[in-house]
Amino acid sequence: MPVSLRTLVQNHHNLTLLLVWKKYGNDVIALVPFISGRSVLYTRSVEVAKQILGQKSDWDKVPEQVDALALFGENLFSSYREGWQRHRRITGPGFKHKLYEQVWNESIRTYHDMVHTEGWRANASYIHSDVTAMASKVALYIVASCGFGMSLAWEETVGERVKGLTLSECFHIASRSVYAQIFLPKWCFRLPYKPLRKIREANLILESILLGIIQKRKAEGVANRKERAEKDIFSLLLDANEEEVDAKNALNDRELISDVFLLMVAGHETTSHALASVLGLLACHSDVQERAYKEIMSVVPDGRDPTFQDSEAFPYLQACFLEAIRFFPSVAGMPRRAMADTVLHVPSNHGTVTDVVVKKDQYMVIDLFAISYNEAYYPDPDQYIPERWLDPSTEQGMNFGGGPRVCIGRRFALSEATAMLSMIIRDWKIEPVLREGESLAEWRKRCLDGNVANTLGFGPKSFPLRFRARE
Ligand code: HEM
Repeated sequence: MPVSLRTLVQNHHNLTLLLVWKKYGNDVIALVPFISGRSVLYTRSVEVAKQILGQKSDWDKVPEQVDALALFGENLFSSYREGWQRHRRITGPGFKHKLYEQVWNESIRTYHDMVHTEGWRANASYIHSDVTAMASKVALYIVASCGFGMSLAWEETVGERVKGLTLSECFHIASRSVYAQIFLPKWCFRLPYKPLRKIREANLILESILLGIIQKRKAEGVANRKERAEKDIFSLLLDANEEEVDAKNALNDRELISDVFLLMVAGHETTSHALASVLGLLACHSDVQERAYKEIMSVVPDGRDPTFQDSEAFPYLQACFLEAIRFFPSVAGMPRRAMADTVLHVPSNHGTVTDVVVKKDQYMVIDLFAISYNEAYYPDPDQYIPERWLDPSTEQGMNFGGGPRVCIGRRFALSEATAMLSMIIRDWKIEPVLREGESLAEWRKRCLDGNVANTLGFGPKSFPLRFRARE
């Protein structure tokens, strides 16, 4: 199907494309720019996605995606199949039970710190003017703490200011500008144009801060890191790197910086959007909130803070979170390229299977937005229904990827979100801040559905919420 360049640029999560899926009814479509350019196949079929993401498939990452997150060089996310195993072997040991407990505890601590420092309890209700920024700060603090052992107070900036910029500011600038950094030649960032120079400055500062952390940790030595290693991914990553028996597989400092940057971006951009989305959606669904509140009170009837040991007792809270990610998939699509001529087996609703022959170098996008709104998997896809995730037969979808390159941080994100939600909903009723005469549907369109940003993560832009103290 021919489409305008604008549609392709606006990309697959664009609502017009959802209409295209509805109109054609197929599970694989090809979009071809009107004038010139590469045709791209899109799929909204989980079965097709599994073939693409499987262990021995003929598909790999696309250069544009690899470059986008490789500001400092190859890393776990931005590597092709052959280089990827090295990074996974060294990063993997950090993601274990102990980490998720640490994430839980840090989330509870961050919640108390935030509520106390921002004075939420000064009145019967507290209006937060920018919930997206709040979620972003929460996610950054937790990834900084559990990833890198930087335990921060809510009013502190992450790290010291270098040339007037904090680590979090550098981080925001660098991660928000990845597309500019792919498409513009390097010399552009030296031009006397402030926004471009700022991007270069932010990269350099980020690189020097991360290198500083690496050198400090290396100097601590393995023995001193043991204590820390109980707590953060980064120490485990360094240990795994030093213990790598085959020296050629060990990561050099630049690759370590790249993996550290990647983990901070991946752990921050996705989870923060998801947290903001779930809070916004809960504000529109007081019935869902009440059910979640009852679940929390059944686990902690005395009102104490839930502990990590309680974390499995919140299936409904987790369902609220998963449904919010379905509604606003933090990662909107997974692009891949065929590395050889290959065939996709595309099942239809009538039980038949069509073979689609694909040529080497064909681009394909696993459209997570369209999978999430595919009625074949999720009846009434436009409705926020957390209950569907309590049914074991519900399609698990692909919002955390699949196959060997499935998201390494899924449990990290779930632990953080469940802990934060259990605290917020235990203490507050979440409400929309309506303008005079505005209906809930109008608020929702203005603040959520019609107010989305697609940077590295997809979700609602800035919007306010009221947190009313529970009796
Ligand atoms: C709501 C939260 C999250 C969502 C929706 C999400 C989604 C995804 C998706 C869809 C992929 C696969 C991308 C692809 O194959 O093209 C992925 C990969 C990845 N994610 Fe997440 N993610 C989340 C949280 C996190 C967190 C908290 C971390 C780290 C602390 C993280 C680290 C990674 C990494 C390192 C990869 C690359 C894995 C590899 O290629 O081996 N993610 N994520």
